[in-house]
Amino acid sequence: MTLETPLTKHAGIEVPLICGAMYPCSNVELVAAASDAGAIGIVQPVTLTFVHGIEFRDGLRRIRGLTKKPIGMNALIEKSSARYLDRMKRWVDEALEEGVRFFVTSLGDPRWVAEKAHAAGGFVYHDVTEAKWAKKALDGGVDGLVAVNARAGGHAGPRDPRALLDELLPFGLPVVCAGGVGDATGFVDALRMGYAGVQCGTRFIATRECDASEAYKAAILATDASGIVLTERLTGVPLAVIDTPAVRRMGLHANALERWLLKNPRTKHALRMLLTVRSAWSLRRGARVDRSQLWQAGKSVAGIHSIEPAGAIVRRWASALVAAD
Ligand SMILES: Cc1cc2nc3c(=O)[nH]c(=O)nc-3n(C[C@H](O)[C@H](O)[C@H](O)COP(=O)(O)O)c2cc1C
Repeated sequence: MTLETPLTKHAGIEVPLICGAMYPCSNVELVAAASDAGAIGIVQPVTLTFVHGIEFRDGLRRIRGLTKKPIGMNALIEKSSARYLDRMKRWVDEALEEGVRFFVTSLGDPRWVAEKAHAAGGFVYHDVTEAKWAKKALDGGVDGLVAVNARAGGHAGPRDPRALLDELLPFGLPVVCAGGVGDATGFVDALRMGYAGVQCGTRFIATRECDASEAYKAAILATDASGIVLTERLTGVPLAVIDTPAVRRMGLHANALERWLLKNPRTKHALRMLLTVRSAWSLRRGARVDRSQLWQAGKSVAGIHSIEPAGAIVRRWASALVAAD
């Protein structure tokens, strides 16, 4: 099979593979290593600034110091507050000024990101979990869809990879598979199915360059797909995490007050923000002292058996694709 797909053309890369944005795991070295090997690493601005304490533009320049190959930016564009949206607009402008031309947007209306990116010759792919969001993304002028399935790490969707592809192909845009791909076989299978590429998160946490804790990486290696559960307690919406004693203590479902606040459009965003900030602090503390055991991961853990350099993964998967019929 060929490495060239609409994704490689849009992103200006060699291998149709995205090292997906990960809050709080997308550190400078990981993004750079994935890009340098021919895939594309996606910068997560909130992770850079809030988790790693690096000013956004400075972070982009540090990555540039490690690789000259294309990198992307994740813009979470949910209208949570005017202040947040203003900051995201500034980050997108800074990314464009620093030469970023590929954007992965999540939540909200991607139109303004598409307008800015297109004016600079860039491309925007939008995370979607089902057709109704793809329709909105298409109306917003995006260039591709990232199909987040039920096996994904982070906020998983409701569909399996095959059903989601069938639902999204009629929109006529390139579709990237996000969720459940942890090894070269899964990568080749997704491309063979008709996906234009794969976006991985969990696989890239178990790498030398990712600065997540050793306990988190070891848990990814030790867990299989049945050890991944969805909890609403971290961000207010189902989030895929490794089933640990800490997760069991915390519980999987929002409590009655949280459910009531999440139903009310006026309080929904405020509560989600509060839960996210609370979980960020525990994840951040966990990265240092390994006690939080609140570890996000997808069902792709099933295919992950060793901690490797990110570049070795990209190169091995590319060779497997080229060798496949
Ligand atoms: C720890 C973690 C954090 C994530 N954070 C984000 C994020 O901030 N923004 C985003 O668009 N996707 C996020 N994702 C989703 C990934 O970019 C990717 O789509 C997903 O991990 C694919 O599933 P996989 O983990 O099975 O490879 C996150 C995933 C993980 C595992």
